[in-house]
Amino acid sequence: MEENRKHLLQKLEEKFDAAGQDLNTHLEGLLHANYITYWDYIKTDALLSLQQQRTQFPDEMVFIMYHQINEIIFKMMLWEIEQVSSNKNLTVDFFSEKLYRISRYVDMLSSSFDVMGEGMQIEQYQKFRHTLTPASGFQSAQYRKIEFASTELINLIDNRFREDIDRNTPFSHAFEHLYWQAAGKDHKTGKKNALLANFEKKYMDDFIDFMKTYNTTNLWTCYKSLPDDKKKNIKLLNAMRHYDHTLNVKWVMAHYHAAGKYLAKDDGTVEEATGGSDWRKYMLPQYQRRIFFPELWSAEELKNWGIDNLEGYTILT
Ligand code: HEM
Repeated sequence: MEENRKHLLQKLEEKFDAAGQDLNTHLEGLLHANYITYWDYIKTDALLSLQQQRTQFPDEMVFIMYHQINEIIFKMMLWEIEQVSSNKNLTVDFFSEKLYRISRYVDMLSSSFDVMGEGMQIEQYQKFRHTLTPASGFQSAQYRKIEFASTELINLIDNRFREDIDRNTPFSHAFEHLYWQAAGKDHKTGKKNALLANFEKKYMDDFIDFMKTYNTTNLWTCYKSLPDDKKKNIKLLNAMRHYDHTLNVKWVMAHYHAAGKYLAKDDGTVEEATGGSDWRKYMLPQYQRRIFFPELWSAEELKNWGIDNLEGYTILT
């Protein structure tokens, strides 16, 4: 028998012996098993059966599919973040490469917002959106997980309460003061609208667990735990800043402009959002002040956060 085959058989024998399994049985199984196909591996039939419209408007299909694509990309981002978080020997190269990979996904989502901006007829959107109330992309759990996995909780606390929140506050208390509570909570009465109440009912426990897991392994804490010389590495610094900017300014503004296009009325006022937030104010980066890595930006850059999209932000050299 050819040497390489002998070697492979020996390795297989060792593998199955170690698991208390009989190699012959597995070889017999191999003999009868069907070949793998693209459609079984990628699960195309299952994937393509997930697009179910609530109305007959053709453009609702664009709306559903584009959101699903976003969710798949969010999953890819979380997957990459996890590679950094679980790495016990984090190097500058590995960290930067992963950050750029994550950023490329976000860049793709930001630039592809035109698919939404130009992809649907406003008249169709204005009609099918009424079947979606009180749901909103706001209720994307993965979007929130990306935030929890990217930075420390203090940077996600509503800017108005940040000074008063102790960094060691219990997770449930921090949760009540996250910046996105402003989309659905009356801070005077504590009452939450359906958008927020439904979201929390479904995901609150999962979020608290996730927050605990990433409390010490989020990207910002990973960065801070590096030795000083690595922290000053230009490639890494630019990768961190690029990710912060592309998600928290570029994507946010692309999203805001898409919302503006579909929700603007002829008289200059705007439609109420399906989620019911005061969206024109709520969605702006200069209001939310969601910045994952604030210490990596200058005072001037922080002052101008989100204003004019901060297009001219400096690449460090
Ligand atoms: C025409 C398309 C879209 C419109 C008009 C739109 C509109 C809105 C509005 C008005 C809000 C504020 C919350 C509310 O009251 O509903 C919101 C939030 C949100 N949407 Fe969209 N959206 C669109 C597409 C998308 C897409 C494709 C995604 C990707 C999953 C998405 C994800 C989100 C997220 C994550 C939030 C929460 C943002 C935050 O808390 O800062 N949206 N959207």
